[in-house]
Amino acid sequence: MTASTGPIEPAELLARIPDFEQALAFYHRHLAPDTAIDLSVAENVLVYEDSMQKMVFDHTALLPETYIHYMSAYGNPRLREEVAALLTKAFDAPVAAGDVFGTGGVGSALECLAFALQEPPKPGETGPPPLEEGDAVLLPAPYWQGFNWSFEQRPKLKCVPVRLPTEGPERFLLTLEAIKEEFFKYHRLFGEFPRLLVLTNPHNPLGVNYGKELLEEIYAWVIDETDMHIISDEIYCHSQVDGARVPFTGALALSAYERAPERIHVVWGFAKDFGLSGFRTGFVVSKYGPVQRAMLGTTGIEEKKHSMSWFTPVDSLKHYVLGAILETTVNGAGSELYTDYAMRRYRELLTASFERVRDRLVARGIEFVQTEGDNPAQFFWLDLTDYLGKRPPEGAYTVEPLPLAHAADADPDELWLFDYLRTRAEVTLLPGETMHCPAPGFFRLCFTAYQPEVVCEAIDRVAEALEELVVLG
Ligand SMILES: Cc1ncc(COP(=O)(O)O)c(C=O)c1O
Repeated sequence: MTASTGPIEPAELLARIPDFEQALAFYHRHLAPDTAIDLSVAENVLVYEDSMQKMVFDHTALLPETYIHYMSAYGNPRLREEVAALLTKAFDAPVAAGDVFGTGGVGSALECLAFALQEPPKPGETGPPPLEEGDAVLLPAPYWQGFNWSFEQRPKLKCVPVRLPTEGPERFLLTLEAIKEEFFKYHRLFGEFPRLLVLTNPHNPLGVNYGKELLEEIYAWVIDETDMHIISDEIYCHSQVDGARVPFTGALALSAYERAPERIHVVWGFAKDFGLSGFRTGFVVSKYGPVQRAMLGTTGIEEKKHSMSWFTPVDSLKHYVLGAILETTVNGAGSELYTDYAMRRYRELLTASFERVRDRLVARGIEFVQTEGDNPAQFFWLDLTDYLGKRPPEGAYTVEPLPLAHAADADPDELWLFDYLRTRAEVTLLPGETMHCPAPGFFRLCFTAYQPEVVCEAIDRVAEALEELVVLG
């Protein structure tokens, strides 16, 4: 006999979501829609609202029969070819369709890699020894908190932050020295070297592109001096404003990739640049034998294994809708692929939004971490450290916290500020602690989550709320 269950209580579900950003997305979408401007979640409405609905979906039939059937979990040949062609342009380096493997989101693509790198190379294949459970993964911090789920929860690797400086002339700058320092420190402490380096380029939450010279330096050291693999998460690769001081360089365009393609793996997906976060579609790009076998499946008698994508597929509905996006042409008779149009237009929209929001932040005196001319991807990394510990003059403002999972060592003043802005200004920002920021007081603002006028209104409200805060005597 089964116990009868009552109706689903959304508030209980919220309390059970361990990912802070996903919990906020759930809260704002299902529990308290329209109560705040939610700039905490990395989403992008710009492309959809500008062109995707009218140029693609308005012309797409409901559902042809082909798409009710089973399809290749890692993407059928056509989809893989179309994505390879798209990425060849974005990475400015050739991407072979046979090296592209679809999954149910980049979070899943990362998890697939974490499992696949634990498989040994075959005799005759070059490659370092396979990773093992408990091996360390270096991640420059702050970093997207989802890496913890992808690498730790099931593959059982261990995320180790490379803590970037939060003050001084090198504030939040990545250097090879910082990576080396953590690499050797980890060895001193645990007697083993880390086995994987993960770079997010452009970065989340800092937005910046890593320069080619820096990347060549880091990759050369990793390849020549260590046993580490590198995963380059390039999910924001099209999120580029005009005239960025440091242009985007993909891992596949580096000379290191020519020398050691078996050590370098890239992920990308439709969630950010195309704004299709709910579609959960990501891709692994890798030439490495163990990764390719894990993604395709293996038929050998001793090691029959199903494709990792079978557990996290690009299903037929995704094939259908993404196929429509990838195959639509615009501007007359087959003259331009919609994806080329959309990404060109996205750059214009992103640049305009970025400039408008940046100017408003400056006008309202809200500080953010950015060197003039740096790429933002979809974010401003706000520096609200000046407000830590301040309170409204009456000191009486009580903040109703949400039932969200915080790290045990979360800074109480940062959390108070998060709740204060969420309730007083009705604007939700992502606290830096969620992203393993080494110091409290930094918040991520995603400026593509709404049209720029709404983001500017949110900034005005945040500024007013911050202006009320004083040091209590
Ligand atoms: C750097 C990075 N990688 C991966 C993801 C997750 O992508 P997906 O939604 O396709 O799983 C995100 C989402 O925020 C991200 O910021």
